[in-house]
Amino acid sequence: MVSYPARVKIVRTIEQMRAASREVRRAGKRLGFVPTMGALHAGHLSLVRSARAQTDAVCVSIFVNPTQFGPKENLSKYPRPFEKDRELLEGEKVDFLFYPEVAEMYPPGAPPFTTKTWVEVAELSARLDGKSRPGHFRGVTTIVSKLFNAVEPDVAFFGQKDAAQATIIRHMARDLDFETRIVICPTVREPDGLALSSRNVYLSAEERKRATVLYRALTRIHFSVDKGERRAAELLRIGNEVVAEEPEVNLDYFEIVNNDTLEPIADVSSGALVAVAAFVGTTRLIDNVVLFGGGQTKL
Ligand code: PAF
Repeated sequence: MVSYPARVKIVRTIEQMRAASREVRRAGKRLGFVPTMGALHAGHLSLVRSARAQTDAVCVSIFVNPTQFGPKENLSKYPRPFEKDRELLEGEKVDFLFYPEVAEMYPPGAPPFTTKTWVEVAELSARLDGKSRPGHFRGVTTIVSKLFNAVEPDVAFFGQKDAAQATIIRHMARDLDFETRIVICPTVREPDGLALSSRNVYLSAEERKRATVLYRALTRIHFSVDKGERRAAELLRIGNEVVAEEPEVNLDYFEIVNNDTLEPIADVSSGALVAVAAFVGTTRLIDNVVLFGGGQTKL
């Protein structure tokens, strides 16, 4: 008997996506959802595998969301290897690939993008990456709301690598009573510790080596915590010292915050998120480690 590989069903419109999702639910199945901007790597695929393990059917979206790029960030340069992405998703036996045009999500109209309605998690959206990327998280929460409305997933999967995004989306889902359950999955790393990111492809060989300093700094902090250090200021001093070993890595922020509020804390004893962002050449990378459960209340 010849067996043919299951084909991922490519869905281009919101209407078709909703119909497909409702059919899944009519069959008594639960739909898992992994939103992405494409340029898929092993980190995304680990989210897909979590979705596969925890739900009955899996939808992945690929949409390079213009509203989360700042005016100085190069939206047109963002990698879009669609065929490769599609093949990877075939390999994971994904059921649906939601791949809308920009005009489907933001119908043409008054410039630059036609949404007059934004979803924004107040205060948190201006912390960590939100400080150096004004408007970024508003773009993320707006598109994730729109994607949730199109896909109507039972469970949605996000990576811990984007720690502030993960916290902000958990708040959004709770505050707006989305029925979708949010699951945050661990960061996937290269053998030398570098967190997987679609942006790693921008690094030259030399920059790629330098970039591991972020993981080294986080590891050193973790080690100090294991040895009993609890003062955030001292832990940050240690982390900054490690990053300074690579003078060509320029810190954007290095912070120790409560993982729920994203506000700086002085003592990590009851949990903390240690988050770092830095420019390696012109590429901005982020990474983080969660200490003692992050200090979060239940969202
Ligand atoms: O994490 C990402 O890739 C994006 O921010 C997301 C969640 C797909 C929204 O565009």
